[in-house]
Parts: sequence; structure tokens; C-alpha cells
Amino acid sequence: MASRTESLPLIVVTSELPGDALSLLDGRARARVRKARGARSEEDMARALRGAQGAVTLLSDPVSEAVLDACPGLKVVSNVAVGVDNINLAACAERGVIVAHTPDVLTEACADLTWALLLGAARRIVEGDRFVRAGKFKGWRVDLLLGADLRGKTLGIVGMGRIGQAVARRAAPFGLRVAYTQRTRLAPSRESALGARFAPLDELLCTSDVVSLHCALTAETRHLLDRDRLALLRSGPLLINTGRGALVDEGALVEALRSGRLFAAGLDVYEREPALAPGLKDLPNVILLPHIGSASRETREEMARMAVADCLAVIEGRTPEHAVSLGVRSEE
Ligand code: GLV
Repeated sequence: MASRTESLPLIVVTSELPGDALSLLDGRARARVRKARGARSEEDMARALRGAQGAVTLLSDPVSEAVLDACPGLKVVSNVAVGVDNINLAACAERGVIVAHTPDVLTEACADLTWALLLGAARRIVEGDRFVRAGKFKGWRVDLLLGADLRGKTLGIVGMGRIGQAVARRAAPFGLRVAYTQRTRLAPSRESALGARFAPLDELLCTSDVVSLHCALTAETRHLLDRDRLALLRSGPLLINTGRGALVDEGALVEALRSGRLFAAGLDVYEREPALAPGLKDLPNVILLPHIGSASRETREEMARMAVADCLAVIEGRTPEHAVSLGVRSEE
């Protein structure tokens, strides 16, 4: 006879999670936690999720049609991330699979990291650190590692959602003006609270000294900054990307950085993570981080807790608090 634990619904958690999120499942669901780290293929995912009713996934886990077809009992995919570009949302909706994610909790952490990259790129912080460690610091020089001032310049934000707005709120003390672009313009009262001016994308690129990307990756925004759009940037700007790597054509970005047309870039995300475009890591004027926008301990623990709680909610027949889509079949 099956033990009581074996009769509980199965939730597959595709990675060990920070904090004590899994204690939420005690006596209510069985957790099967994958220990293997690193990028997973669709085959790995299909194998891992077999028999599961719920999945707690990472942004690097592909949840494709093939994976969903291999797991017909799956009711919910709960992503430990705000972005859901790893999940085929249409295929989930077709199959009645609910998708949840972790918005809000990571907004301030991501905005802080964006500013860390922005200041680091403007003032050549990482180059300076390497310089000192290499024993090259032989005394103060008036022309050593000259960076760019921010005061009086324009920060152009692409995607003025929660994180874009949190980035904008940090601009005033540094003396930056804020312009933004997105599909739907904010209400005038919101624009004035943020001190942000709307501009169409191409105009924003031509008139900003710092461009920071915060829109979701979709079929429409893939390579939003392609070679032609990168050529619109005024001479010597900074590009910061803490959104998704594929918003930018990374090959064209390497050329723009190499030629000096872009003064510097700060990147936390890459087109084919964890791979880097050829030549990127050899450039001195780019800061490269390993996708750690939300990686403060408090934020990641809370993200894990939210994702597990929403997965359990669906398994228990409740509505998840942070649904991206409620898995409505198209014919319904
Ligand atoms: C991080 O990139 C996220 O989407 O949460």
C-alpha cells in the first residue's frame, strides 16, 4: 500500500532553492528537487518533470511544447523569475497549464544592480580594479582612467514597467534627465511623478547618453537593438542591459564597443546564456555579470517562497497570487 507521502501530489523543483521555501510543502505535496546545475535541454526537462503535477522552474529551463507534451499531468509551471520567456505561454494555455512568476519582490534589487552597472561603466570601476591588482598603479595621474560624468545627461529607459520605473526613480540625485519608451505611454501624472519624458524608440536612442533596457523579451522585442538601431546611438553613450540578452544583437554590440562608438556597456544578461558572443570578454569597456540582477539573499529567498507557494496553490485548487496566465484553453 502506498505510504501517505507517496500519495501526495508531486512537485518537481528543477534546482535547489535558497531559504526554506520547500517547508511550505510539508504534508501537502512531495518535492523532487534536481541537484544538477547548469543549462538544461528540453529532453532533460521532459525527463525531470515526468509524473509531476507542479513544476518550480528557473529562467534557464526551457518549457516548450515538447516538454509539456511529455508531461500531460502538469497543472502549473511556477518560474522563480519575473521574466517568462523560457516558457511557451501559448502552449501552456492550450493545455490548461497555469503559469506563475515572481514580480515586484525583485524590482528594487534589479534597479540597484542596474545602477551598479551604470556607475561602474561610466567611471570604469572594473578596469580600475584590474589596473590596481595588476600592479600598474604607480601614482596619481591627471589623465588616468577618465570616465564620463552623468550630471546633466539623459538616461533613456526602454521598457517603463516596474523595474524601469525603479531605475528612473534613482536618477534625480545623479542629475540625470529621464526619457523612456514603451508600447503604452504612462499616464501624465505618472510621467510627472517620475520626471520622465516619453519618446519613440528611435528618437530615444538618438537623444540619450545612457540607454538601459528593461522590456520583456518577446518575438517583437528580440534584437530590438539591432545593428541599425545601435548606429542611431549618439557618439560615446553607455548601454546597460539587465533585461534579457536577446534584446540586443550581441555581434553588433561587440563591433560598437570595439570601435569605441559605444563608450562602454554594462551587461548582466546575454543572448545565448551562459555563452558569450565572440570577442565580448576581450573588450576592456564592458562589465560582464552572470545574470545576478535579483541576486540579493533576501530577494532570492522571497522569490523561491513565492514560486513554491503559487505552485502549491494551483495543486490545491486555489488561484495563484502571481499568475502570468491562468491556463485558459483557447476554445474556452
Ligand atoms: C531575472 O532575470 C528575472 O526574470 O527574474
